[in-house]
Amino acid sequence: MNSERLSPRLNRVAQLIGQYGPQPIRLADIGSDHAYLPCNLKLNETISYAIAGEVVEGPFQSAVKEVNQQGFSNVIDVRKGDGLEVVTPEDNINTISICGMGGALIRTILEAGLHLLTNNTIVVLQANIAEPQLRTWLSKHHFIIRDEDIIEDNSRYYEIIVAEYLPSQQQVLSKKQRLFGPVNLRQPDATYIAKWQQELHSQEKVYASMKAGLEDANHPKLVEMEKHLQLIREELARVEKTN
Ligand SMILES: C[S@@+](CC[C@H](N)C(=O)[O-])C[C@H]1O[C@@H](n2cnc3c(N)ncnc32)[C@H](O)[C@@H]1O
Repeated sequence: MNSERLSPRLNRVAQLIGQYGPQPIRLADIGSDHAYLPCNLKLNETISYAIAGEVVEGPFQSAVKEVNQQGFSNVIDVRKGDGLEVVTPEDNINTISICGMGGALIRTILEAGLHLLTNNTIVVLQANIAEPQLRTWLSKHHFIIRDEDIIEDNSRYYEIIVAEYLPSQQQVLSKKQRLFGPVNLRQPDATYIAKWQQELHSQEKVYASMKAGLEDANHPKLVEMEKHLQLIREELARVEKTN
């Protein structure tokens, strides 16, 4: 991967930033590693300005090097710091990307920097785990989920969530919407089905070993997991019938 050719995962993130970011797009990419995402977006003239935020020295230096090599230091500002603390209100950021981290860390970063967000700020989030908890947090904090996608990259499935910050509104999500995603549920494609088939398979293994280790067949953990597996089976039955 490089700035010219992003991985399928980051390429989809870049497309969604271009599609949903308010014009002109002023992006903060938090956890920017090599700054490939903002550099790619500048190469394609998708953004007018970006902050590439990184908390760790090594990746921060890689981002500085890449931005300088591309000759973009007038448009992409690489800043070292924790989460959204690298952003100030004067930066007029209207789009935030946080990708390649756990859902809990993404939530912590958004929560700590919520005061920096204004009406209509777009967030493009790609959590490696704990997407349902991220959706729950978004719905409680006045974000409306505008789009979602699932990308297969190197035999792994990555969920991407696009949400808009609208402090005067609140999106109530059902348990099913939190687990599968409200947009994913409306537009299930082959990748969605493959992701949930894989998830069911691996969760069934976890369930079997948990059952073997617990004497009580009615243990609350087992009952909870059975309900979870049943939700996935029902959803797969629904989408496999219509696809
Ligand atoms: C796995 S990499 C993902 C890089 C890139 N965003 C992507 O999706 O390919 C996660 C990066 O986030 C950085 N990071 C982790 N916590 C952070 C925080 N609180 N603030 C800024 N960067 C953070 C890490 O140092 C690392 O470079």
